[in-house]
Amino acid sequence: LDLLVIGGGVFLGRAVVEAALRDGHRVTVFNRGRSSPAPQAGVEHLVGDRYADLAALRSCRWDAVVDTCAFTPDAVASLLDAVEGSVARYVLVSSISTYADFSQPPDEDSPTRSADGEELAMARSIKPGGRGKASSYGKAYGPLKRSCEEIAQGRLGDRAIVVRAGVLVGPGDYTDRFTYWVRRIDGGGRVACPGDPRRAVQIVDVRDAAAWMVRAADQRRSGRYNVTGAERTLSMGEMLETCRRVSGSGAELVWVPEDTLAAAGVAHWTDMPLWLPSARMDLRHFMNVSTAKAMTAGLRFRPLRETVADVLAWDGGRRHIPLQAGLSQAAEARLVHAPDQLGSEAIHQ
Ligand SMILES: NC(=O)c1ccc[n+]([C@@H]2O[C@H](COP(=O)([O-])OP(=O)(O)OC[C@H]3O[C@@H](n4cnc5c(N)ncnc54)[C@H](OP(=O)(O)O)[C@@H]3O)[C@@H](O)[C@H]2O)c1
Repeated sequence: LDLLVIGGGVFLGRAVVEAALRDGHRVTVFNRGRSSPAPQAGVEHLVGDRYADLAALRSCRWDAVVDTCAFTPDAVASLLDAVEGSVARYVLVSSISTYADFSQPPDEDSPTRSADGEELAMARSIKPGGRGKASSYGKAYGPLKRSCEEIAQGRLGDRAIVVRAGVLVGPGDYTDRFTYWVRRIDGGGRVACPGDPRRAVQIVDVRDAAAWMVRAADQRRSGRYNVTGAERTLSMGEMLETCRRVSGSGAELVWVPEDTLAAAGVAHWTDMPLWLPSARMDLRHFMNVSTAKAMTAGLRFRPLRETVADVLAWDGGRRHIPLQAGLSQAAEARLVHAPDQLGSEAIHQ
């Protein structure tokens, strides 16, 4: 394939580039050249801002495009204006956050919600520098991704592959949601863990997701696919035990009841990464999304221990960088040593 990756410099995009090179494809990346060092050897780099100038793309032809940094429908529309005539497949990286409701486990045909006028106006008001980041869009992120999907599928039909990604983990993960647990357990001592160790978690190694996207483009697949871990195969307890085993840490996992976490003001997902409170029925199946369709189309998973080992190795070189997610040491100490004395002010500082 002659493959163009829009973005391609940081986490998922870099993994897509590596997967494509491994499969013997010719790869070009298009980005502003701000977020990352030069692309990998053998990769052509076109420098440009997708919101300002797509001229560099108009004179070239690609068999497939993987778009890792589309967050608004106008970004998809302008890109397609530039490449639509030539590409056989356009892979849009979307999200499971497009689903309207997680009280039931979603599959690709479950109801979604697209962005309303207010959300589109909010997205338009974001300054150019912030438009390429998920965190800029808050609660509108999922609906805006759905609106991106509508443009892609509406214009390209079967030439569009919509990838609804779940929680991506692995080396290079700048969200730190999974890395927190790997680093924290490696650090040893009493580790505060959320609620019920049997609760399901669903994560996918970014390299497995990326490899599938490249193959899906190569095989000219079509339509929407959930791409995350296989449902109901991993619990929080198994995930954290794997971190302990692989790091060889003597950490003690202390499972703190959900009502204690709530009383202490621990924020799910951010203070306690990958924890969703069982009382949140609207999020009940957020980590129980059907991946049967992508698995039938070849999605495969490496063992979790491999992901943990690789995150340990990668994170070893960046321990001086404070993590974006997880409890502070002091907040954790109060949870695991003196939970009876917790008040609502106890956690944040
Ligand atoms: N992380 C998760 O768990 C998760 C879950 C579900 C879905 N997703 C989706 O997966 C994707 C993850 O992306 P990633 O950050 O890992 O991808 P990435 O391709 O590794 O990094 C983002 C790239 O976008 C480029 N970029 C940003 N703004 C740009 C602009 N205006 N014009 C041209 N290039 C621009 C950046 O380069 P420059 O700054 O140099 O331009 C960077 O190379 C996102 O679409 C996200 O919504 C992620």
